[in-house]
Amino acid sequence: MAGKVKNLYVCSECGYETAKWFGKCPGCGEWNTMTEEVRETVRSKAASPVRARPSAVPMPITQITTEDEERYFTGSKELDRVLGGGIVKGSLVLLGGDPGIGKSTILLQICSHLGRILKILYISGEESKRQIKLRASRLGVNSENLYVMTETDVEIVADQIQTEKPDLVMVDSIQTMNFKELSSSPGSVTQVRECTNILMRTSKSLDVPCIIVGHVNKDGAIAGPKVLEHIVDAVLYFEGDKQMSYRILRAVKNRYGSTNEIGVFQMGDSGLSEVENPSLMLLSGRPKNVSGTCVACPLEGSRPILAEIQGLVTNSGYGNARRMSTGFDYNRMSMLLAVLEKRCGYYFSSLDAYINVIGGLRLDEPATDLAVALALVSSLKDIVMPENLLAFGEVGLTGEIRAVNHAGLRVTEAARLGFGKCILPYHNLKNLVLPDDAQIEVIGVRTIRDAVAALAKG
Ligand code: TYD
Ligand code: MG
Repeated sequence: MAGKVKNLYVCSECGYETAKWFGKCPGCGEWNTMTEEVRETVRSKAASPVRARPSAVPMPITQITTEDEERYFTGSKELDRVLGGGIVKGSLVLLGGDPGIGKSTILLQICSHLGRILKILYISGEESKRQIKLRASRLGVNSENLYVMTETDVEIVADQIQTEKPDLVMVDSIQTMNFKELSSSPGSVTQVRECTNILMRTSKSLDVPCIIVGHVNKDGAIAGPKVLEHIVDAVLYFEGDKQMSYRILRAVKNRYGSTNEIGVFQMGDSGLSEVENPSLMLLSGRPKNVSGTCVACPLEGSRPILAEIQGLVTNSGYGNARRMSTGFDYNRMSMLLAVLEKRCGYYFSSLDAYINVIGGLRLDEPATDLAVALALVSSLKDIVMPENLLAFGEVGLTGEIRAVNHAGLRVTEAARLGFGKCILPYHNLKNLVLPDDAQIEVIGVRTIRDAVAALAKG
C-alpha cells in the first residue's frame, strides 16, 4: 500500500538523495545523474514485522555456533575463488557489469554445472524463453532441473520462488523488475531497491541463494548496481574491454570471503572459459629487445599477475606537453614524472608522455610505480629492456623505493614464468623467502636512481 508521497532527486549512480536538483551529484561527483523520483513509503506484506523470530531474541555470543556455511560449488574455479569458495546458502549476490559483457552467459554456464544437483529458477525480464533456450543450446546447457521464467512483476517472482522452492534463484536483471505498488518506472532507484528488498526477504526466509544481475549504465536513466551494494551479501563486477576477449570478475564486497579476489575468463564461441594462467596470456606477444616497456607484478587478491606496462616519450608537437595514461592512474603518473624530473634529472616537461597497461588491465596498486617509472625512463633514454626483467616497488616523493607486501609471492610467480631478474625494493630483501629451485636474480634498490642504474647495467 502506498503511503505518504514525497518528491526527491536521487542519483542513479550512488543513490544520493536531495530535495533539490543538482547538475553534479554531491555524493559521487557524477554529472547528470540526479533524476526526480516519487518517494513512497511502502508497507508491503513482506515488510510487516514478525514477532518473536528466533533471530530477534538476544543471545550471549558464546552460545552462537559457527559451523561452516553451506556452499554450492559453481563448477568454475575462478568464480568459486571470487565468491570465497562457492555460493553460500541463503546469500544474495549481485553481479554487475556493462551490458553485453557476459553476465547472462556466465549465469547459464553456472546452471550447466549446478543444474545436475540443484533445482534452479532462472527469471529473465530481458529475453524471451526462446532466446534463452537458443543461448542455452549454444552453451550446451540442457538440464531438467533448470526452470526458466520470463516475468517482470517482482511479487509474482517472489510467489513463484515460494511455490517452486528452488535451490538457487537467478534474476536477470534487477532493472527490469517492477513492483506494482510504486509508481516510478522500472529501473529507477526506488524500484530497484524495493525489488531487491523483496527478493532478499524471500530468499532469506527460504534460505535460498539468489544471484541478481545489475547493469552498469552511464547515462543515468537507470539505477546502477552501486545503489544496491549495501543491501546484498556479495557484489561481483564483470570488467573488461568488449573488444578484448577476456573478462575479469572482481569481488568488491563479500560478507563470506575476501574482497580482493579476481577471476579471469575468456569469451569464446562456446561461452566463457576460465583462464588459469592469466600472466601467460597477458604477456603473450610482448615485443622483445625494445625500449619503453617494463613488466610489473601487481597483486590481484591473493594472486600475483604479471602485466606489461608500456611507456612512450616523444617530442611534443605543440606548446603543451600531453600526458595520457590507460590502465594506470593519471595523477599518479604525473607524480612519477615529477619525481623523475626533480630527483633524477630526467626532463619531461616539453615532452609528451604516454602510459599503457597492456590487455585492458587497470592497475591501482602502488607496487606498480617502479615499472611505470622505468618504462618512461627506458623510452626517454632509449634503454633496451632485457626481456627477462621485471620490476616492482612503490616510489615515494623523495625518489625512494618503498617496500611492498608479498614480495616473495611476486618474485616466485616471476621465476615460475621464466623471468631471470627482478628489481625490487631493498627493504624487501631482508624477509624475502623464495623456493629453493627459484632461478631468479633479485636486485634490491633504495632509490629510483639505483633502479635506473641497474637497468642501464642490463
Ligand atoms: P551476455 O551474457 O548477453 O551479456 P550481458 O548479459 O552481460 O548483457 O553476453 C553477450 C555477449 O557475449 C555478446 O556480445 C555475444 C558474446 N558471446 C560470445 O562471444 N560467445 C558466446 O558463446 C555467447 C553466449 C556470447
Ligand atoms: Mg543479459
